[in-house]
Amino acid sequence: MISFKNVSCTFEGGAGIENATFDIEPGEFVCIIGPTGAGKTTFLKLIYMDIFPEEGTVGVDKYRSDKIKKRSIPMLRRRVGMVFQDFELLKDRSVFDNIAIPLHVQGVGMKMVKDEVENVLERLGISDRRDHLPSQLSGGEQQIVSLARALVKDPLVILADEPTGNLDPAASLKVIELLEEINRDGTAVLMATHNFSLVKDRGYRFMQIVDGEVQT
Ligand SMILES: Nc1ncnc2c1ncn2[C@@H]1O[C@H](COP(=O)(O)OP(=O)(O)OP(=O)(O)O)[C@@H](O)[C@H]1O
Ligand SMILES: [Mg+2]
Repeated sequence: MISFKNVSCTFEGGAGIENATFDIEPGEFVCIIGPTGAGKTTFLKLIYMDIFPEEGTVGVDKYRSDKIKKRSIPMLRRRVGMVFQDFELLKDRSVFDNIAIPLHVQGVGMKMVKDEVENVLERLGISDRRDHLPSQLSGGEQQIVSLARALVKDPLVILADEPTGNLDPAASLKVIELLEEINRDGTAVLMATHNFSLVKDRGYRFMQIVDGEVQT
């Protein structure tokens, strides 16, 4: 479902990813670990096709980084739910409206939007926060809203960039358990984290980025 073939994406000073080759299958739960600056966000952005490799190819579903046309990138992103490191919620929109954005972009009808958003609010246990603005939420709640916005598209894979980065242990565990539940329902999850102790005993497949090398 996701395949990297000899992918290099490097920045000045030797940072980035070098010559990575691996596959991720549908429904897998993969944890990408590595210290700050190792290239975890870079890794996820390659899959989201926010950036492109200087060498090699990234394949996601039927899309390939060396063939995709700019106008097809939104189609790819329907299949890939990104949970950003800094949430990227719209400050002047309610929780409900933030989660509805990807569906509006797809031109989904109002009734369907309402049903789908209510469904995911319920699924993630945040129905009572639907009319709040992001500023009225805790960091943990904002993280869950960001997850809801990724999930509402019913993607093949959720990319979660440091989803527990700013949360206390209880809120972190809640986010991890929600990701596991989503995964049990069949969605692949790729989570980047530097909090190894939180994830080490949970039975995930681990990929580690060490000096630009992706060890699988
Ligand atoms: N657009 C860019 N231009 C130049 N250097 C970049 C760019 N994007 C990332 N880098 C560098 O590449 C390296 C990897 O960055 P990346 O954001 O992928 O790390 P990370 O593993 O996600 O770190 P963190 O745990 O802090 O989020 C860093 O040294 C960063 O400074
Ligand atoms: Mg990062």
